Amino acid sequence: MHRFGRSAAVFFLLVLTSANSTEWQSAIHPQGAQAHSLANLFWLFTGVCAFVWLLVMVALGLALWRRQRGLASDPFEHDPRFERGATFVISTAGAATVTVLIVLTTASFLATSGMSDNGGEDMLSIHVTGHQWWWELRYEDTEPQRIFPSANEIHIPVGRRVRVTLSADDVIHSFWVPSLAGKQDLIPGRDKALVFSAARQGIYRGQCAEFCGLQHAHMAMLVVAEPPQAFEAWREVQLKAAAQPSDTEQLRGRDVFLGKPCVACHAIRGTAAGGKTGPDLTHVAGRHTIAAGRLPTSRGSIAAFVVDPQQIKPGVHMPRVDLSPDELNAVSGYLAGLQ
Ligand code: CUA
Repeated sequence: MHRFGRSAAVFFLLVLTSANSTEWQSAIHPQGAQAHSLANLFWLFTGVCAFVWLLVMVALGLALWRRQRGLASDPFEHDPRFERGATFVISTAGAATVTVLIVLTTASFLATSGMSDNGGEDMLSIHVTGHQWWWELRYEDTEPQRIFPSANEIHIPVGRRVRVTLSADDVIHSFWVPSLAGKQDLIPGRDKALVFSAARQGIYRGQCAEFCGLQHAHMAMLVVAEPPQAFEAWREVQLKAAAQPSDTEQLRGRDVFLGKPCVACHAIRGTAAGGKTGPDLTHVAGRHTIAAGRLPTSRGSIAAFVVDPQQIKPGVHMPRVDLSPDELNAVSGYLAGLQ
């Protein structure tokens, strides 16, 4: 009993601490209207199913108890009283099952229909493409010159509905930001849409939720929900070309970058680098993480990833580029300056 008490205390402590530390990635701590209706649905299903389970256990216990006490009648013996009782119990249970299924199906339909794209209102529109193993973003706009690319970090204004259009480049991925929205698969050749919003400022972690190969677990993203003015300021920065090198080392870093195979895969707007197979690096240092959430952004982590990507993300499609220590130093200095 004493041991049980201690285990229970540890369990509740874990539940409490996880409630605090995973608020930014937890479907049961929703931070937006759509996530709220999904969480309500989850609790409704859990409650109803727990109640049904309890009823079944009570009925089973009662039947076993009656059998043991010799009170139960033999089902193979013709007994009109028993048959009337059995008919009543079975038809009541059948009707209750149908009712419960209809209620749960309707609730599920109502909750998920709020998440589909019903057009009309002016939503922020972002095209998300899943790649092995990173997220390509394109912020849409009615004015073509205000469309810009980014990667792995989605900024949204608090309170505004966001429509993400989801495509996949290679295999099936799944877009899942538990605190803000439900899961939606990204299927090659078939675009999907998902609508969500954040009611509170914060950084919400998302994760690819469909096994998509070796680095599936390291295919994360962040959703940064910020006040509308801060979002607009961020958007203006993203629309700009990359920052110019501010010293000779960064200047050398840019020359090294442009002279190496880096440009075949990465774009840095404002330079000759226009590769499309890897993330756009125009403002790479302005994001919280690199390599789809693998490492926090810093000059050191950029250098570590560039010097040997396979060490940090085994299987990643980024090859190792031969760089001298001096070149590596210059390139990491340049990239770390791209705010
Ligand atoms: Cu992409 Cu799992």
